[in-house]
Amino acid sequence: MKRFDFKVNGVAREVTTWPMARLLDVLREDLRLTGTKEGCGEGECGACSVMIDGQLVNSCLVPVAQVAGCEVTTIEGIAVANGTGTPAGAGPSGLHPVQGAFVSHGGAQCGICTPGMILATIELLEKHPEPSEEQIREGLSGNLCRCTGYMKIFDAVRESARKVIAAKKANARWVGEGGTP
Ligand code: FES
Ligand code: FES
Repeated sequence: MKRFDFKVNGVAREVTTWPMARLLDVLREDLRLTGTKEGCGEGECGACSVMIDGQLVNSCLVPVAQVAGCEVTTIEGIAVANGTGTPAGAGPSGLHPVQGAFVSHGGAQCGICTPGMILATIELLEKHPEPSEEQIREGLSGNLCRCTGYMKIFDAVRESARKVIAAKKANARWVGEGGTP
């Protein structure tokens, strides 16, 4: 076993474990951040998505040794209520605007895919603030949902994009911009 130091949602963390321990397990079991979900465990569904230094990855495929010294962002770091600031478009609930859009459009049912979908949406909107329909489908193509049929998720992404554009017009900070909330 070995000690690994990295940041999670802006906070310095250390874990002592095997170098090949999956980041997914370290987050859920060692750090008790259970917002990140396990679906397939094989890199196919995106339920375990997190960001490493602003890049979306499947945490079931990442050994913890690979994130030493990195900044990991999980769904727990996305909500406004985590104390990292208040982006334009945030509702009184403290949810991130993208989270709010998923709630208001029924984009979450069982919720297993939802954290990954939200992080994928944030990454998509960083790359394409005004995404085309094709870019939305491509941006979420690594994230599978068994419940919603995707239409409500796509509606939520479109509303999220409108919120981002409004925030940019207001010259306000938007969580997700720059990769780290
Ligand atoms: S659980 Fe990691 S991609 Fe499905
Ligand atoms: S809401 Fe159940 S898998 Fe997407």
